Amino acid sequence: MALRRKLVAGNWKMNGLRADGLALAGAIADRARGRSPSCDLLVCPPATLVIPVGETIAGSGVALGGQDCAPADKGAFTGDICAEMLKDAGCTYVIVGHSERRHGHGESDDEIRVKVAAAWRAGLVAILCVGETRAEREAGREVAVVTGQLAGSIPGTAAADKLVIAYEPVWAIGTGLVPTLADISAVHHSIRSVLPHDTRILYGGSVNPKNCGEILSLDEVDGALVGGASLKADDFWAIAEACR
Ligand code: PGA
Repeated sequence: MALRRKLVAGNWKMNGLRADGLALAGAIADRARGRSPSCDLLVCPPATLVIPVGETIAGSGVALGGQDCAPADKGAFTGDICAEMLKDAGCTYVIVGHSERRHGHGESDDEIRVKVAAAWRAGLVAILCVGETRAEREAGREVAVVTGQLAGSIPGTAAADKLVIAYEPVWAIGTGLVPTLADISAVHHSIRSVLPHDTRILYGGSVNPKNCGEILSLDEVDGALVGGASLKADDFWAIAEACR
């Protein structure tokens, strides 16, 4: 892997029926085929679209990822999808520990650590999300929270080519609020100090075509995990282009 080549990842969350999901994937793949991006690109569609989106983006250089994975590799876990299934469907990445899983589904660091291990077992790169709530930020505890989540959610030693960290303050996700550039740098710096130096650390939380330029120009920021703005091909591409 080139040393910390930037990664722009689209987290589609629970959005997209076949027609619009494939149109979005096709539009992103067309742009990537037309002008090779200066960053790695990744789309993480909902599970129902992983296979057809993978077919749509094949050969474009855009990578495919899942949004979550189960700890186990098979068995009686109704509704779950294991990392091996994502790999088999063409994924190379999986998001783990997103705040909508930590807070919406009560996932603990212990559970997330097992999921990161599951991703590695299947040969996927885990995108491990960490981030503080608004109350934790107001109490000045953001670095303590984030480094605690890292300590609790990373199994053993992390190899930089198997792990990407996404720093996503919970209060910035989907709200239009973004930390100051100095605050982003400070948290990224703290994260980097406890991980192998070439681990990619993405920022996520209300990244859009307007604010991406200054966020992505920060030395400590190795890309973005993008929710809402990843649902529009033009916006997602504009964020990718900001890496140039
Ligand atoms: P947002 O979501 O870009 O819509 O804030 C980011 C995320 O949740 O990964």
